[in-house]
Amino acid sequence: MRPTWLAGALLLGAALVVAPAFAQTVAPSDPADYPDAPGREEAVVFCGACHSFRIVAQQGMTRAQWDESLKWMVQRHNMPELDKEDLDVILAYLEKAFPPKAPAGGSGRPGWNNPFAPQR
Ligand code: HEC
Repeated sequence: MRPTWLAGALLLGAALVVAPAFAQTVAPSDPADYPDAPGREEAVVFCGACHSFRIVAQQGMTRAQWDESLKWMVQRHNMPELDKEDLDVILAYLEKAFPPKAPAGGSGRPGWNNPFAPQR
């Protein structure tokens, strides 16, 4: 089970601090709600600008697939194109935090992976 109480506590704490800054945005997404890894703030703030970051966190993809999705997001949904540096940061986070849920070949870690577990 995902430790939702922890996420909840973090969310509450962060919301108290951050809420005024986000008061004007639609459906704010809180970085503290998602797996911790480098690039989290950038990804959640940028991708959460148009839709809840939840829509992103529901997916699990390889880096190549994330890359494809973002190209599609630019073409189809008018997402501003990221420059290479930002794209790298965000792709690295997406790849790490939201990998494919059932890795092909079955040799990886099947099923649900605890995003809070130490990586490697
Ligand atoms: C300029 C606005 C905008 C930005 C910024 C944006 N998106 Fe989207 N995205 C959309 C729209 C519009 C949809 C369609 C929403 C819907 O169908 O309800 C969407 C849908 C999605 C979906 C769901 C696709 C599906 O098949 O259900 C994913 C995944 C997604 N976006 C990922 C991202 C990621 C990752 C980022 C950050 C790199 C991002 N988006 C940034 C506009 C944006």
